[in-house]
Amino acid sequence: MQNIRIELQKAEQFLAPGSVEALQPQVKAAREALESGQCAGNDFLGWLHLPSSITPEFLAQIKACAQTLRENCDTIVVAGIGGSYLGARAVIDALANSFEWLTNQGENPNILFAGNNIGEDYLYELTEYLRGRKFGVINISKSGTTTETALAFRLLKKQCEEQRGKDVARQVIVAITDAKKGAARTTADKEGYTSFIIPDNVGGRFSVLTPVGLLPIACAGFDIDALIRGAQDMEQLCGCETPYEENPAAQYAAVRNALYQSGKKIEILVNFQPKLHYMNEWWKQLYGESEGKDQKGIFPAAVDFSTDLHSMGQWIQEGERTIFETVISVIDQRHTLLFPHDDENLDGLNFLEGRRVDEVNKMAELGTQLAHVDGGVPNMRIVMPKLDEYYLGQLIYFFEVGCGVSGLVLGVNPFNQPGVEAYKKNMFALLGKPGYEAETEAIKSRL
Ligand code: PA5
Repeated sequence: MQNIRIELQKAEQFLAPGSVEALQPQVKAAREALESGQCAGNDFLGWLHLPSSITPEFLAQIKACAQTLRENCDTIVVAGIGGSYLGARAVIDALANSFEWLTNQGENPNILFAGNNIGEDYLYELTEYLRGRKFGVINISKSGTTTETALAFRLLKKQCEEQRGKDVARQVIVAITDAKKGAARTTADKEGYTSFIIPDNVGGRFSVLTPVGLLPIACAGFDIDALIRGAQDMEQLCGCETPYEENPAAQYAAVRNALYQSGKKIEILVNFQPKLHYMNEWWKQLYGESEGKDQKGIFPAAVDFSTDLHSMGQWIQEGERTIFETVISVIDQRHTLLFPHDDENLDGLNFLEGRRVDEVNKMAELGTQLAHVDGGVPNMRIVMPKLDEYYLGQLIYFFEVGCGVSGLVLGVNPFNQPGVEAYKKNMFALLGKPGYEAETEAIKSRL
């Protein structure tokens, strides 16, 4: 079995000789600090050996719950925000047939997402769509108090109970939350919902391999055993014992930090597969929330190519030279589609006759990489043999450990997110939430 691997040469060529080597001791120390727990945020290291600690019995429980939902629902709404939805969405989008949801005639329920915004029209249209459907809800919130999610869940719970009756609703609403605290836990216990626990020591953005990601992914019909196997193999490969030259996460952390120190402040994650759009979004949250603090941190941006070559491509080719790219390159496609012959050849594309669409995509990828390197953009390439559960498991764990190591090398606590609280405090003050009277008065005086 191959592993995902990382190509660095087209990034390292932009760096002063010795600059990556100089960071290697820090990378090693950071990886060892994660292992020994001697680092900032060490109460949130539960993700580090999560893959190898997952038992078949635990996976069987997740699969049994997913089976109940699949048997009783044509649609499942996953309510959650940030780390409580992006991982599941990334994996499901990467694996699902892009058009099955339009007909909803496949064997899998439609998986929809809510609780990740406060758009009134979005929620209204969702409730309209769900009218008359046999839908269930997976309510995911580690704190159990996140406003976006709680708001959506209140609407969904009410509609589910009205449409399906309280007894069925109790079977098709599942909670994934803290073991003891938070409103989601209180409601789950009172209503008798099936529930799963998000471990205390796993932060939201590192939680995709807990029930947070596993249950929705299993509900969508995908193989969570293979996902975990991939993560387990990457856990081994990115361990403390693996030398730098063989450890992709250590290499990624070293090179991106060296680029940052050389003035490349923005990392753009690139894919050439529309199915990876939400993997980009998951990655942005993972790295943005982990590293952007203390007035430091690489800004994580993302593009879908070749789509965005026709929008952001100009900026990347010729804009300010403060960027580097990390390209996720998928070698094998699931399907084969050959260009047909056309007698008239009005579009001039007969030179592609009989060739695969993916060959064109691969040449777009190579051509783009060479053009961007020529334009002064360092390029790393993460090579995935194919887009399946096993390699997505590898990719997820690779990015997680790369993030933990990178953040420590940068000198921040990668596992907290104090900055996220500021908007919440203002929003509650503006809405007049009980307990925020002083803040309400203070903020109103500023308007
Ligand atoms: O990574 C994080 O901790 C956050 O993005 C959370 O996942 C997000 O804010 C949702 O929080 P909760 O699961 O408590 O509703």
